[in-house]
Amino acid sequence: MREKAPKRLVDLGCGTGVLGLVAARLLPEAEILLVDADARAVECARRNAVRLGVEGRCRVLWWDAREKPPETGFDFALVNPPFHHRGPEVDLAPALALFQSLAVWLKRNGRALLVANRTLPYEAPLARQGEVVQVADVRGYKLLSLNRSARSSGARGRKAPGPRSGGSSRSPIRSR
Ligand SMILES: C[S@@+](CC[C@H](N)C(=O)[O-])C[C@H]1O[C@@H](n2cnc3c(N)ncnc32)[C@H](O)[C@@H]1O
Repeated sequence: MREKAPKRLVDLGCGTGVLGLVAARLLPEAEILLVDADARAVECARRNAVRLGVEGRCRVLWWDAREKPPETGFDFALVNPPFHHRGPEVDLAPALALFQSLAVWLKRNGRALLVANRTLPYEAPLARQGEVVQVADVRGYKLLSLNRSARSSGARGRKAPGPRSGGSSRSPIRSR
């Protein structure tokens, strides 16, 4: 069965806006909110929205994952979570805060697609928000799907492969 195209999407940690703006081009009916805690990223994503002619349907806001989301009721979230804070050490705290915020951003039956370095242990913390399934694994990156409606079924999704489930740790691969 074909899935209904999402109408309201949020791009969490949008950076230049690549995920949310591509979604805007692919989904001409959709309204997209892009958010990031870096003021330069916010400005850059805004400019890119104008360049692509989608600024009428794409809003870009400053938002830090440690703060309460300013809006709610989205049916889809796109996330490439941050995993460095200051320097090369892996720091999962911003990503974990961002995962928690999904419960507010998304509707009860909302979904999220997350792209991440294959080594990052996101499955277990995400499973607290709903059912997690890995939908792709390509060239060192994995694509995870989170389905909030399956929350009551607990952590039925794929579990994190190792004992690292949060906090700071080293990773052999760095993508940002
Ligand atoms: C891995 S980059 C992804 C950027 C873009 N979405 C992409 O796919 O290229 C993570 C983004 O999260 C943002 N970020 C880091 N800490 C954050 C926080 N506490 N709250 C919100 N965004 C944060 C960074 O500024 C960065 O733009």
